[in-house]
Amino acid sequence: NNEKLIKVTFNKANGDKITAEGKKGDSLLDVIINNNLDFDGYGACEGTLTCSTCHVILDPKDYNALPEKPSDEELDMLDLAYNLTDTSRLGCQIILEEKLDGLEVKVPATVNDARYN
Ligand code: FES
Repeated sequence: NNEKLIKVTFNKANGDKITAEGKKGDSLLDVIINNNLDFDGYGACEGTLTCSTCHVILDPKDYNALPEKPSDEELDMLDLAYNLTDTSRLGCQIILEEKLDGLEVKVPATVNDARYN
């Protein structure tokens, strides 16, 4: 198996820096699940675009480099996230590819599960 693994670093609000690896085609949410990362409440809807708990914040350069722009559904859901920024995305909608190797994202402290609003 010579498939290249893609490294992602999650910077948590409490200062923890967690680096994990995923495969091309994995979402950031997949990386968190597959590596058993313990992010409280993260990814509550399992990537079905109904919760916004998978909110991540990117550097502007990374945000602009992502191949897929957010869909209307993603933007609607992001509107419900706490600490929304201009470079916010939903982790379940960011799909890894090789050029994203080394990506760093911020995971906000508070998650807002839109299903319970
Ligand atoms: Fe719920 Fe991404 S995991 S919107």
